[in-house]
Amino acid sequence: MAVLVSGGAGFIGSHTCVELLNSGEEVVVFDNLSNSKRSVIDRIEEITGKKVKFYQADMLDKEALRNIFKENDIESVIHFAGLKAVGESVCYPMKYFENNIYGTINLCQVMEEFGCKRMVFSSSATVYGMRNQSPLSEEMPLSVTNPYGRTKLVIEDMMRDLCFADKEWSVMLLRYFNPIGAHKSGLIGEDPNGIPNNLLPNVVNAAIGKTDKLKVFGNDYDTPDGSCVRDYIHVVDLAVGHISALKKIREMKGADAINLGTGCGYSVYEIINAFEKESGVKVPYETVGRRSGDVAECYSDPSKAARELGWKAQFGISEMCRDLWNYVTKTLNK
Ligand code: NAD
Ligand code: WQD
Repeated sequence: MAVLVSGGAGFIGSHTCVELLNSGEEVVVFDNLSNSKRSVIDRIEEITGKKVKFYQADMLDKEALRNIFKENDIESVIHFAGLKAVGESVCYPMKYFENNIYGTINLCQVMEEFGCKRMVFSSSATVYGMRNQSPLSEEMPLSVTNPYGRTKLVIEDMMRDLCFADKEWSVMLLRYFNPIGAHKSGLIGEDPNGIPNNLLPNVVNAAIGKTDKLKVFGNDYDTPDGSCVRDYIHVVDLAVGHISALKKIREMKGADAINLGTGCGYSVYEIINAFEKESGVKVPYETVGRRSGDVAECYSDPSKAARELGWKAQFGISEMCRDLWNYVTKTLNK
């Protein structure tokens, strides 16, 4: 019996594969490598000393998915595969709806064909929209502001409807806050294609001289230092949360949504300071205007995860920045 990891060569998926293998699970990965590299699979094997069965496959290709289920005894799916660039989704909404929503429909239909009805899904704090006050908790009203976020909300609703219609399904919707950091080995981490959107890849690019300066988007927010506050979470903590969620879907039926965050908020300037301290490298930056769509504060109420999953984040921002820098110097910038 194996766990199928969609998008397992990506940032969060690769770290989750490591934790799955370390906890004794058999792992099958498929990824179309649109935002990742094949070499990540070798690195997962190097870290764990265990084998991963890898398929380069696209979830839009139903026959390819059927083939994976035919060749393996899949009992649960952890579904990371998807496009995630907010700005790109505004320019190319149909690309996002097709890839993320249609891809998930294909995956669920093939799962049903093979009697596999357990899924952990990568949702996002983006589903809380702009109107809720942090700390954000699971029962708050949901809304979205961009096509990427809409794909997450539609898939959440779709999975709830599926669980309502067929009581054999169990689905955990995990709402991630801001994953950063890297595995302590320095062998895997975040390696986005193209120009990154997220803060830490841009901090790294400025630190290693790949860009002139980091742009800090706004210092006039109603926050202690005027820059935006986010709930940064170590990607290894996030990965461990998936192991707890996997155990949970093996016991429960129906759909549930749970936040994976630390509950602590840090500002952009605090992140720059922590990164400089851990790396010993100055990050050149300039403060520019606000980025459209940003909220002043976004951090989680993580109590449901503690209660329902017995999971709590272990690492703080110094460890997140330390492990990120270790990955940058050991692997990314080689
Ligand atoms: P990532 O881009 O590193 O990983 C996603 C992987 O999915 C990539 O390896 C990509 O090649 C693959 N993929 C995309 N479309 C595919 C398709 N049609 N078929 C097969 N593979 C496909 O992103 P990540 O940061 O690891 O995010 C994983 C999931 O978590 C995504 O669904 C993302 O929306 C969600 N999420 C990410 C964050 C974040 O800040 N990183 C926050 C909240 C939610
Ligand atoms: C964090 C802070 C920026 C870049 C996004 C998605 C969300 C989720 C996580 C997927 C903000 C500031 C950033 C830069 C900066 N992803 N910033 N300079 O916006 O909280 O969330 O990723 O689900 O859906 O929206 O994360 O890393 O982009 O930004 O000043 O070059 O850093 O303004 O305050 P965000 P982020």
